[in-house]
Amino acid sequence: MRKILITGGAGFIGSHVVRLFVNKYPDYEIYNLDKLTYAGNLENLKDVAKKPNYHFILGDITNDDFIRQLFLKEQFDGVIHLAAESHVDRSITHPNEFVITNVVGTVNLLNAAKAIWKDNYEGKRFYHVSTDEVYGALGDEGYFTEETRYDPHSPYSASKASSDHFVRAYHDTYGLPVIISNCSNNYGPNQFPEKLIPLFINNIRHNKPLPVYGKGVNVRDWLYVEDHATAIDVIYHNGATGRTFNVGGHNEWRNIDLIKVLCKVVDRKLGREAGTSEKLITYVTDRAGHDLRYAIDSSKLQRELGWRPSLQFEEGIEKTVDWYLSNKQWLDNVTSGNYQNYYKEMYGNR
Ligand code: NAD
Ligand code: DAU
Repeated sequence: MRKILITGGAGFIGSHVVRLFVNKYPDYEIYNLDKLTYAGNLENLKDVAKKPNYHFILGDITNDDFIRQLFLKEQFDGVIHLAAESHVDRSITHPNEFVITNVVGTVNLLNAAKAIWKDNYEGKRFYHVSTDEVYGALGDEGYFTEETRYDPHSPYSASKASSDHFVRAYHDTYGLPVIISNCSNNYGPNQFPEKLIPLFINNIRHNKPLPVYGKGVNVRDWLYVEDHATAIDVIYHNGATGRTFNVGGHNEWRNIDLIKVLCKVVDRKLGREAGTSEKLITYVTDRAGHDLRYAIDSSKLQRELGWRPSLQFEEGIEKTVDWYLSNKQWLDNVTSGNYQNYYKEMYGNR
């Protein structure tokens, strides 16, 4: 029997990781700790909510006392840490929240794990889920490897880089059995519609402008979220302590090219004439400090642990669009309330 704490399990990636672990490992007890910020939604987990090995804990990783007490009470064997503030644009307007959640929250979890495991680390693991954005930006060529020097540019990526450093420091200083992965852009069901793909699908639905930052030439490497969840499973179970693994899709797209594909797929599925949604494309002021290109070399993970993405992008994007178009209520629920203020602040009254 293993007791695993998954933080941020009600968010986008976390919900796919919780579902995978609850269903694949009926002998494990899975505890999902989430504060349910704007990005966390228990709807994402309604299919596993009643499973006997699933437990939800409402709580905040920035509350040090609460975290210590929780670890003392539950005596977790493992932690998979995903809880974070995750949106770059929000980090530009509200950087402090990113420091508090992503850095202080992570250190609270490290302290609590260290306190309950004492120096007996047999069978224990602290897995920190991080991002490729810590490596900065690439030019037209090359890839991020696990050896690439950290060079974060946004408050979000700086906070994630800092949390990665703390995780490694707890390994080097206290011997805490940590492991880290740095992943590229995820897409798929349950992503909050502030991120490019769900935002644009939702805007197309409502015939709203599609705000392309700058010239649309920035490049991202897209991975279907369930493939990230399987990578996390493989790394959690088989990765050696102290190691780092890059996770990516080998699937680079310039934003504007991806947006045009997205427009075509959504038009087809909505029965609209081809070309309708492309007319919504609107070039807007670029994101401050906008990283030009991310591209991950995940050959270490493929070579050492045998993981590779299972989905081609064409299939993944069809599945993704299908999911949002058949879960309009989900989209409408998460875009009510405060979302309206966020949208207005970011994109004006369009
Ligand atoms: P998300 O914003 O969708 O979800 C974050 C979750 O964390 C939410 O459920 C939220 O309620 C919870 N949370 C936030 N603050 C909390 C707090 N103080 N205490 C407890 N819970 C809190 O994020 P995501 O896109 O699913 O990303 C998950 C993790 O993966 C993050 O650490 C992110 O940096 C990393 N990551 C994301 C991507 C991506 O493309 N989305 C890629 C690589 C790495
Ligand atoms: O690379 C991994 C990272 O990917 C994760 O660590 C982050 O949590 C996740 O949010 C994502 O960051 P990005 O900034 O790359 O994702 P986003 O969806 O915000 O933007 C993708 C690209 O699209 C980026 O170049 C900015 C651009 N964009 C985004 C939005 C929201 C636009 O052109 N218009 C928009 O309205």
